[in-house]
Amino acid sequence: MSQLNSKHLLGIKDLTREEIELIFDTADNFKDVINRPIKKVPSLRDVTIANVFFENSTRTRLSFELAEKRLSADVINFSSSSSSVKKGETLLDTVNNILAMKVDMIVMRHGSPGAPHFLAKHIDANIVNAGDGTHEHPTQALLDTFSIREKFGSLDGKKVVIVGDILHSRVALSNIFALKKLGAEVMVCGPITLLPKHIESLGVKVELDVKKALEWCDIANVLRIQLERQQIKYFPSLREYSLYYGINKQLLDSIDKEITIMHPGPINRGVELNSDVADSENSIILDQVENGVAVRMAVLYLLAGKRNNLQ
Ligand code: CP
Repeated sequence: MSQLNSKHLLGIKDLTREEIELIFDTADNFKDVINRPIKKVPSLRDVTIANVFFENSTRTRLSFELAEKRLSADVINFSSSSSSVKKGETLLDTVNNILAMKVDMIVMRHGSPGAPHFLAKHIDANIVNAGDGTHEHPTQALLDTFSIREKFGSLDGKKVVIVGDILHSRVALSNIFALKKLGAEVMVCGPITLLPKHIESLGVKVELDVKKALEWCDIANVLRIQLERQQIKYFPSLREYSLYYGINKQLLDSIDKEITIMHPGPINRGVELNSDVADSENSIILDQVENGVAVRMAVLYLLAGKRNNLQ
């Protein structure tokens, strides 16, 4: 396989294992490139990309921008908080005005699940979903699974637990799809109020006891409590959450195995993860961030190859 099937990346749900492996193999090459003294290639010269962010971001926005610049694309950045969205302009009008300036690709983060899928029905440009509400965050799952593959060689048979606020997490859903497609066993762990009903139907195990979950897994991907998406109280206090679900060195030392620690960021230190774990030798959190640039270069490069194709 040398091409993706779609001209958009809207979610991991739509990708085949072969497409994910194509993205990884392409990212391997780009990782070599960005570790050279000259980190830039001309692959996307004459391609213009708009990063359109309706929600806050540090890692994803900077990582996309760097990936685009490493590929020699022209880049513009849009942030809704300083835009005419504040004057009532619709999503479609906003994006159509950006596209009228001869923009070829849109990388979009939006608070509403399905917003990039809606756009894909109405515009011709390639769309990359950089996170849509509580739905999917496909490039995060790709960089997470790429980082596991880099450390372990393969995901086949690896046991991965996703710990925390699964209910509000787009990272969890995209990771579940990616991990399962790549042959890993997946467990979710958190307070029952933060686990979606019928989550087992996605083929994952459910565990409420974090120590048992850690005893089972090879890799723990620890998620942030998404207070900004919670209209009601799902647990009594952050202190209580930390006592029952926070991962610290003492807890890991009580388990007789090495566990690789991941986190998509931003970390709430002292809540879901203590610094003695986040900054430990077993943490690959900054490798995830480094790999994000190569993985996003691969996604943009492969989608650009589909620019003139019909979906
Ligand atoms: N992991 C992630 O999406 O981080 P940002 O919200 O900072 O982009």
